[in-house]
Amino acid sequence: MSRQISVHPLPALFEPDDVVGGIAVVVDILRATTTITHALANGAGYIIPCGTVEQALDIRNDLPAGTCLLGGERGGIRIDGFDLSNSPDDYGPNAVRGKTIGFTTTNGTRALIRAEKADHVLIGAFVNLSAVAEQLRNSELPVHIVCAGTNGQITGEDVLYAGALVEQLVESSAEGFDTTDSAQMAFNHWRQESGRGSSEVLEAALRRSRGGRNLIELGYDRDITTAAKTDSVSLVGTLNANGKITMSAGFDQVE
Ligand code: MLT
Repeated sequence: MSRQISVHPLPALFEPDDVVGGIAVVVDILRATTTITHALANGAGYIIPCGTVEQALDIRNDLPAGTCLLGGERGGIRIDGFDLSNSPDDYGPNAVRGKTIGFTTTNGTRALIRAEKADHVLIGAFVNLSAVAEQLRNSELPVHIVCAGTNGQITGEDVLYAGALVEQLVESSAEGFDTTDSAQMAFNHWRQESGRGSSEVLEAALRRSRGGRNLIELGYDRDITTAAKTDSVSLVGTLNANGKITMSAGFDQVE
């Protein structure tokens, strides 16, 4: 039987048990998963996705002073009392190296928490597209690409990424894949909007998406440029069973 690739265009369109026994790739291109990947690439110790602001505040209170930063957004902007917004720009090496980050966003962290029953949960973004594809090729488990969307609405930027990842898997692998209809639709969307284009073509497509338009309105244009830099990062974040996101060197990592 060939290996299945499913795309879930919204977290509400799958049940948590559906991903048991598979690998989930969670994506919120603008901006949660792009930002998490940047933070890890810049040396953050680990990131704890939190469903609520209160949960993030509790994490900081429980850790030694100066070791934990809080990051994320509500309505796209930094949360009162938090150290960092949801902009990758805030997560430079000087800010995050060695720190624990309690992180909560409107849609991205919720999608991550919904996918946590998968055997492996990877953090996907265009900035590490090839690295994620490589990890998936090294496994035989079914693939679930989970799009965060925005407030219960499907967003073009996440579906674009899903399509790009489907393309990488289907075209560069000798094994047969069985793509669901939604995976095929994501692939078609990617091919139509941006497929095989330059970062500039991808950036233009991201700007046309719902998330892109929101960020332009909020003055975060630069984050769209950052999110479109395909393969600027060679590592992959993974959500571990202990609820912490760390860099994944492979599937045998335990912490
Ligand atoms: C989210 O999780 O809803 C997004 O990442 C929002 C944002 O771009 O800040």
